[in-house]
Amino acid sequence: MNNFIFQNPTKLVFGKGQIARLSALVPKERKIMVTFGGGSVKRNGVYEQVKEALKEHNYIEFWGIEPNPAVETLRKAIAQCKEENVDFLLAVGGGSVLDGTKLIAAGVCTDTDAWDIVLKGRADKSIPFASVMTLPATGSEMNSGAVISRRETQEKFAFYTRYPEFSILDPEVTYSLPANQIAAGLTDIYVHVLEQYMTTAGQSRVMDRWAEGLLLTVLEIAPKIKENQHDYATMADFMLTATMALNDFISMGVTQDWCTHMIGHELTALHGITHGASLAIVMPATMRVLREQKRSKLLQYADRIFHVEASTEDERIEMAIEKTEEFFRSLGLATRLSEVGIGDDTIETVAKRFNESGVAYGEAGNVTGDVARKILQAAK
Ligand code: NZQ
Ligand code: ZN
Repeated sequence: MNNFIFQNPTKLVFGKGQIARLSALVPKERKIMVTFGGGSVKRNGVYEQVKEALKEHNYIEFWGIEPNPAVETLRKAIAQCKEENVDFLLAVGGGSVLDGTKLIAAGVCTDTDAWDIVLKGRADKSIPFASVMTLPATGSEMNSGAVISRRETQEKFAFYTRYPEFSILDPEVTYSLPANQIAAGLTDIYVHVLEQYMTTAGQSRVMDRWAEGLLLTVLEIAPKIKENQHDYATMADFMLTATMALNDFISMGVTQDWCTHMIGHELTALHGITHGASLAIVMPATMRVLREQKRSKLLQYADRIFHVEASTEDERIEMAIEKTEEFFRSLGLATRLSEVGIGDDTIETVAKRFNESGVAYGEAGNVTGDVARKILQAAK
């Protein structure tokens, strides 16, 4: 196990009716901006609950943070926060609203353009922020990352900042999620775990078993959610799995991959594909192309997650990759580029972008543009 420092300061407030706790959790002496997406919260009652809880607070509202939040939109919120001396932000929505809010909170503290904060990869300063998370997927509610898009140049990059002060997770808010967002959310969670697990075996028993517990939970709840999206216990597990998959708990002292995400972000930036849907296409291909490097972990995954039986190691690995792809397909997602109309020109664009910026992702630092090309070709 490698050395590590772990500190996750976010307070999680979980359960039915917990949005009402905003009245005590949000500081009364602050000037607050509450941020929202496109209006789902008005249709599912979340907005009314937030309004009721904040009736004694001094706040303004900012609407319209879109899926894959655009820096062009967020600059407007930053300007408004500066004008109105906002010093606390509350995001009410999915990962996009919260990620966008993370950039607003950093942008308020500086004259640097918001896109330059993203490009730098880390915010030097930020005002505090918190969330009411309405979509289990990103883990943004309990991590310090945010992924921001720039429409003008079709780019999408992550940056790191402070953690949310608190996040409220009421599983009942997920009852209104459309089926495609549930499918994308489950895939995002599953792939977050794989990015931290599917490297090499033997680094940490604790991290392995913890990650495997989350993978098995996702596989178990996915058909149950399809059957009944209003079952509280199932949706509670859905929400908590999302948080636990990307809040630093399963990455202590182990290597991580993340090349599937980096390639997926390019597909979203260039074609607007939903984040989770991009991962369903890239992940099986990553496993196929990097199967030798990931051999020991693929065998462990085949055994512990899918209990596959076959005489040769290669067969067991292939079966595990097929089962992973089948799982994404069972959610109704495409797993091939051809199904979403993406061809060789995009593959070349991604390879060129990676090669020009000199990146090399993955646990072995070897996923360059040329390897990304191989992965995308295996996803055709
Ligand atoms: O905008 P509104 O009207 O609120 O509707 C949203 C949006 O259209 C809707 N929605 C959210 N909660 C709902 C709901 N509809 C009905 N009922 C509810 N309870 O769902 C749509 C998608 O929302 P979005 O926030 O875009 O989805 P998600 O939470 O999956 O976030 C995706 C973004 O997060 C980034 C992705 O790249 C993408 O930009 N990620 C962030 C990460 C992080 N911060 O750590 C890690 C991830 O790997 C990911 O990259
Ligand atoms: Zn993700």
